[in-house]
Amino acid sequence: MQKKNIFIASDHAGFDLKTKLLKNFPKINDLGTNTDESVDYPDFAHKLTKEILKNKKNVGILICGTGVGMSIAANRKKGIRAGLVNNSKTARLIRKHNDANVLVLPGRFINTNEAKKCVQTFLRTKFESGRHKKRISKI
Ligand code: RB5
Repeated sequence: MQKKNIFIASDHAGFDLKTKLLKNFPKINDLGTNTDESVDYPDFAHKLTKEILKNKKNVGILICGTGVGMSIAANRKKGIRAGLVNNSKTARLIRKHNDANVLVLPGRFINTNEAKKCVQTFLRTKFESGRHKKRISKI
């Protein structure tokens, strides 16, 4: 049985939050960026989604300034369900209802504590399946 791997990536606007989150979640695999020097968010979205698609159990976290660019880029890939959230209630629902495999955070519009709660909730919550499974199959 394959093991679940957790990945995280950000652009420069998400670098600070990513660094803080990694201190709390040291088992998460960091795919960069590694400085606050300007980079292009699609490069990091694609790097992360490539890893997620290698194994159905894998999940990821993407961070850019608003979270919108990362969401758009990640959701272009078949098999990726990326949800942009700014609170832990939504983080729970994107797992329960949408079976999201990527959590997207808005680095410039969320505080560190709320972001930590989002990650913890996202990683702990299971997909509810049932009626939600049928809906996902229609995407
Ligand atoms: C970078 O300045 C910013 O545009 C990016 O982080 C993101 O918010 C794009 O959607």
